[in-house]
Amino acid sequence: MKDHAKLWLAYTPKKNNRECALLSKFSFAGADGTDSIVKNAAAELKCGLKSMLDIEPEIVYGDTAAQIKISNGKDMQAREEYSISLSGEGVFIEGGSAAGILYGVFDILRTIACEKNIEEAYKAKKTVRPSNPLRMLNHWDNMDGSIERGYSGESFFYVNNEIVIDERTKDYARLIASVGINAVVINNVNVKDAASYMITDRYFDKLALLGEIFAGYGIGLYMSLNYASTIEIGGLDSADPLDEKVISWWKTKMAEVFSRIPTLKGFLVKADSEGRPGPFTYGRTQADGANMLADIVKDYNAIIIWRCFVYNCRQDWRDRKTDRARAGYDNFMPMDGDYHDNVILQIKNGPMDFQIREPVSPLLGGLKKTNQMLEVQIAQEYTGHQIDVCYLIPDFKEILGFKTYCSESNDTVADIISGDTFNSRFSGIAAVTNTGNDFNWTGNYLAGANLFGFGRLAFDTELSAEQIAEEFVRMTISDDEEVLATVLGILLPSREIYERYTSPLGIGWMVQPATHYGCSVDGYEYDRWGTYHRADHLGIGVDRTDKGTGYALLYNEPNASVYNDPEKCPDELVLFFHHLPYTHVLHSGKTVIQHIYDSHFEGYDEAKQLAAKWETLKGKVDEDIFENVRERFERQLVNAREWCDQVNSYFYRKSGIPDEKGREIY
Ligand code: GCU
Repeated sequence: MKDHAKLWLAYTPKKNNRECALLSKFSFAGADGTDSIVKNAAAELKCGLKSMLDIEPEIVYGDTAAQIKISNGKDMQAREEYSISLSGEGVFIEGGSAAGILYGVFDILRTIACEKNIEEAYKAKKTVRPSNPLRMLNHWDNMDGSIERGYSGESFFYVNNEIVIDERTKDYARLIASVGINAVVINNVNVKDAASYMITDRYFDKLALLGEIFAGYGIGLYMSLNYASTIEIGGLDSADPLDEKVISWWKTKMAEVFSRIPTLKGFLVKADSEGRPGPFTYGRTQADGANMLADIVKDYNAIIIWRCFVYNCRQDWRDRKTDRARAGYDNFMPMDGDYHDNVILQIKNGPMDFQIREPVSPLLGGLKKTNQMLEVQIAQEYTGHQIDVCYLIPDFKEILGFKTYCSESNDTVADIISGDTFNSRFSGIAAVTNTGNDFNWTGNYLAGANLFGFGRLAFDTELSAEQIAEEFVRMTISDDEEVLATVLGILLPSREIYERYTSPLGIGWMVQPATHYGCSVDGYEYDRWGTYHRADHLGIGVDRTDKGTGYALLYNEPNASVYNDPEKCPDELVLFFHHLPYTHVLHSGKTVIQHIYDSHFEGYDEAKQLAAKWETLKGKVDEDIFENVRERFERQLVNAREWCDQVNSYFYRKSGIPDEKGREIY
C-alpha cells in the first residue's frame, strides 16, 4: 500500500532518466559536508535517486561560500539561491549557503519525479533565487491538541499540553522544506492556557530540539506570543509597553528564551484583536507594542511579526458607519514609518477575513515605510473545510498580481512582499496552514495541492497555478496523462465553482456562524462581527463608496475611482463596494438577481460534474486516494445543493423577482 504520509516525496520508481550517467556524480558547492543541512540534502538525494531510479550517487563537496550574515531579507534570498549545471563529470549544485544546496537537490528530485528529462531541464545553467525572503506557515495549533480552524485531525505538535517530537516531525520538515518553506510558527495566534507557558522552562528543552530539527532543513522556528505575558505568567499588573517594569521583565525573559532556544528566529503577535490583549488597553498604539518587543529581541537577531487583523468585533449591526473593512487601514496606516526595522506587519490578503472573494487589503500599497508580509489561509475555513475541493492557488496568483499603484513600477503585491518596491528590510508571505495528524496531513487528499502550491508559489511567484497543480498531481497522485488531465480539470476551476455556489459578487459571509461551513444567509446579519450583506426587498450590498463608509477611497488611484463607481467596479466585487438594486445590470449583461440565480444553479451543477470526473478515476488511482476524495465529494454535493437552494430561495423571497429561466426555487 502507498505510504500516504509521504505525499509528494513518495519517490515511486520512474521510467525516464534511468540511463542518465550524469546522475551518478554530484558536486555540491557552497557549504561543506559537515553542515547539518548539507547532510540532510545528501541523504535526501541518495534516498530519492535510489528509490526513483535505482542510482546510488557519489557526492563531492567543493568550496564553501563565504557565509553571508543575515541582516535583511535580501541576504536571506542570496543565501537560499541555488544554481544547477551539468558537465561531463556530473551534476553541479551551487548554493548561496547550505540551504541553497538543499533547494537545489529538491529541484532535481522534483524534475525526476515529474518524469522530465534531466539533460533537457538543465541544459542551460538554471539559477533560482527565492521570490520572497520569508516563506512561512502559521499553525493555529493549540497545546491541548486541537487546531483552531483545523480540518485534518488533531495537532501533530501537541498532545495533552506536551510537545511531541517523533518520526512525523522530521517528515513534516522534509515535506515543507521540499517546497521552499523556510519559517514556521508552531502555535495558534490566540495564545492562551498552556501556550502562554511556551516561553518558560516547562517547554524549553523540547522547543530547542524542535528548532534544531527544523534548522536542519533551513526552517526557522517562530512562536506566537501572548502580549500580556507580563500579567499572565510574570505576576505584574500591567502590559503597558512604555512601563519600565514591563520592559525590564521582557528583557530578562527574552534573554532566557533565546539562550534556551538558540534557533528561535522571532515571534508572531495577535494583539488587540478578537479578545486578545494589546497595547490599546493602555492608550498606546500598535507601534508602541510592536517596537517595545522588537527592540528587545533585536539583540538576538530576531524579528517581531505583528498582525494587522485589528478591528471592533463588538459592532452593533444597526450601525452603518463603522466598517470592519476599514479597520486594518485605520489602525495601522497613521503610523507608517514608526515601526522599527525588525518589525514586520502581517496583513491578511483582504480587509475582512479570507472570504472566497475579497479586494486586496489597501494596506498593501498603502504602507510605504514599513516591512510587510502577506497572510493568506490554506486552511479552508471559509472555503469548504477541506471537504469541498477548492484549489486556492489561482486566488493567490490574482492577489500577488494585483497592481496597487503605489509607485511608478514594481507596484504589485508580489513586488511589495518580495521587498523590491520599498527596499524593505524584511518581507514575505505566510499561510495559515491546513495540516493535521490525518494520515495524509490535509484531510482531503486534494487539499494537499494547497500546501504544496503555497510553498512553490511563495518560493517562485512567477509559477502559474497550472504548472504547480501539474507538479502536485504527478508527484503525489499519478503521472498517467489521463489521470493528470482529469485531476487538473477538477483542481483548476474548483475555486470559481465554489464561489459560484456560495456568496455572490464579493459580498462574502452568509455562512453558518462559528463553524463557517455551510449556508446561512443571515447567519452573521444581526451579529456583532461587522460582516453584513444589508439585503432588503429592493437590493443588496454594502455601500463602501464616498457616499457610504468611504472604504473605496483608501486605495491608490485609479483603483479608488474604479471601486467607487458601480459602472467601473469589476462584477466579482461589486456587492463588496456597492449597495445595488436587484435589477442593476452588471458588465456581464445580467441583472444582479439573475446573476445570483444563474451562478448558483451553475455552481451546483459544476460541482456535480467535478464529482463525476473523479468517479472516472476509479481503478486508475490508488484506492485509498480514490475513496478519500470520493467521500468528500459526496459531502461537497450536499453542501453545494444547500447553498444553491438557500441562496436562491432567500433572494427570490426578498425580491419577488422570478428566475428568467423558470428553474425550481423554493
Ligand atoms: C478568523 C478565525 C479565527 C481566527 C482569526 C485570526 O476570525 O475565524 O478563528 O482566530 O481569524 O485570524 O486571528
